[in-house]
Formats: sequence, C-alpha cells, structure tokens
Amino acid sequence: MQLERILHSQGFGSRKLCRALVRSGRISVSGQPIDDPFSDFATTGLVFGVDGETWQFRDQAYLLLNKPAGYECSRQPQFHPSVFALFPDAIANRGVQCVGRLDQDTTGLLLLSDDGQFIHTWSSGKKRIPKVYDAVVRHPVSDQLTAALLSGVQLHDEPAPIAAASCEQTGERSLRLTITEGKYHQVKRMIAAAGNRVDALHRSRVGGLALPDALAPGQWRWLEDADLAQLAGSDFD
Ligand code: URA
Repeated sequence: MQLERILHSQGFGSRKLCRALVRSGRISVSGQPIDDPFSDFATTGLVFGVDGETWQFRDQAYLLLNKPAGYECSRQPQFHPSVFALFPDAIANRGVQCVGRLDQDTTGLLLLSDDGQFIHTWSSGKKRIPKVYDAVVRHPVSDQLTAALLSGVQLHDEPAPIAAASCEQTGERSLRLTITEGKYHQVKRMIAAAGNRVDALHRSRVGGLALPDALAPGQWRWLEDADLAQLAGSDFD
C-alpha cells in the first residue's frame, strides 16, 4: 500500500494532509526516513514513525480503556469531556466507537473499535455476554437486596423482570453483580428497583477479559490477538 494511503487509513488525516506529512520529512518506516508519499509497503507487521513516535499498522483498531469518572462515551459530549479526548488524535480520528456505553460517572473497562461487526457483537444483548460490575450503594446491602437482584426486578418499559446472572455482597455497602443484557442505566435501575441506590459503579470485566490491574484510570492500550481470544473465551472466566 502507498505510504500516503497507509497514514490515511491509520487516522493521520486526509490523503492530501498525509502526502504533505511525508513530504515534510516527518515520517519513517522501519526506522528509515521516507519522503516519497507514493512508496509502497506491505502493511502486515509494518512499523512506522510519525514525528519520532512509533506506530504499528493495524487493519482494525481494538482498544481497552480504563474509563475514569467524568467522561462521556460520546463524540458530541454534553456536560463532560469525551472519552475520545483520552486517545491520540490518530486513534480518535479513525472512526473508533465505544462498544456499548458507560455512564459519565461509571469507571472501568470500556472497549472501543472501528470494526462494525465487533461493535455489534459485543454491544448487542443477544449474545448474553456477562459484564461484571462493582457497585457501592447508599444503604447497607441486605439479603433481600441480593435475593431480589438474583430473582429479577421489574424495570419501567421492560416487558418482564430482569435478573442478575450472579450477585454477591462484597462489603457493608458494596456488591458485585453480573448482568448479561446491556440496557440503558441497567445496573443503577436494577438496584433502584430493588430498593437501594448506586453511589459508585465500576466495570471490572466483559466476557473473559478483566480490566488489567496495571492500567490506571485514563490509560488505554491496544487489544492484541491474545486479549481478543480471552474476551471471547467460551467459559468467560
Ligand atoms: N449500568 C449502569 O447503570 N450504568 C453503566 O454505566 C453501566 C451499566
């Protein structure tokens, strides 16, 4: 693929802009400066530099963010900055979207991608993908609360009660629950319907993939093949 097209595909701007980037001497491939925008390279395993920063060619982007509180999962945020502000421009500009949404005050594991099929599969409730949340609640957790969440609570606009796939008390005012749908404000609404209130919410796992301990709030990383295999692991453990 021509270098100009490669840079364009990786989010570095219009073809014209990428051509100018190459001509101005800011691009290297495998460590060698290249100033011809039409030079051809095999994209598999390609490593290139932009202003000295190293990038690996990725056909599609699969990303994991430890979402901090106070960020919206939208490109047109209303009241808080967008999660896309936490990524380099080239990633934000290559059509990456959130895989499902977390509320602005929810923290933890957020997947993003520019692969439409992946986004659909992992955000749709049809596949019944387990998502694990840790909630801090306003009032002490009671056995009735966990029992109600496990047996099913009725949410407004839902035809039938919705039950957590698992639910355990983790502290006086905290619990961990797993849900397999992806309904709007689902955890907060379920806990409210069971008579308590969420004060803080954190997602620690999606499918077989847990939020890595080493990833601080606001940090992100690429998902490699091994991570994607773990995400899709059939036993989700
Ligand atoms: N459930 C919620 O209520 N909020 C989230 O952000 C995610 C799940």
